[in-house]
Amino acid sequence: MNAPFLITPATILHAQPLATIHAMSFPPCERWDDAAIAAQFSLPGTFALITAEGGMILARVIADEAEILTFAVIPARRRRGLGRALLEAASDAARARGARILFLEVAAGNAAARALYTAAGFRETGRRRRYYADGDDALTMAREWEE
Ligand SMILES: CC(C)(COP(=O)(O)OP(=O)(O)OC[C@H]1O[C@@H](n2cnc3c(N)ncnc32)[C@H](O)[C@@H]1OP(=O)(O)O)[C@@H](O)C(=O)NCCC(=O)NCCS
Repeated sequence: MNAPFLITPATILHAQPLATIHAMSFPPCERWDDAAIAAQFSLPGTFALITAEGGMILARVIADEAEILTFAVIPARRRRGLGRALLEAASDAARARGARILFLEVAAGNAAARALYTAAGFRETGRRRRYYADGDDALTMAREWEE
């Protein structure tokens, strides 16, 4: 059972705390600073969720398609169900905005994220060979909902 995390909507005004969580969660070459996060909000359909426990997720809905743009839980708070809770909350938010399918991209070597996505019902839809700077492949995954 998931702990009752307090997950709240975030806006461009939260670009700094979103970037702080991102920086604590990703290696330096993959970090998005507050300007990069603020830039996402200037595009239509972008929404974000944040938790005081140290998690964030940024996503976009365009018509009936949604995409996870970035998603992170700080290392000290992992394996407590926070990532699952954020992913579910973002999925619910995307559906509420009219999405019927949710896409994401994940490094083939990212076992933690792949396990989470598979458990949440995402299926692999493609592979981009040597997509990342370290030579890893990118997997594309999607989760669809019935009407
Ligand atoms: C991926 C990430 C968000 C998961 O966050 P989390 O809060 O630890 O995830 P949860 O505790 O909700 O885990 C849910 C399930 O995912 C799987 N999982 C999570 N971490 C795992 C790990 N290190 N190894 C194997 N499975 C893992 C498990 O099935 C887990 O369920 P369980 O704990 O009951 O076994 C976190 O590891 C992270 O921020 N990683 C760095 C950034 C990143 O990779 N973001 C995603 C980019 S696509």
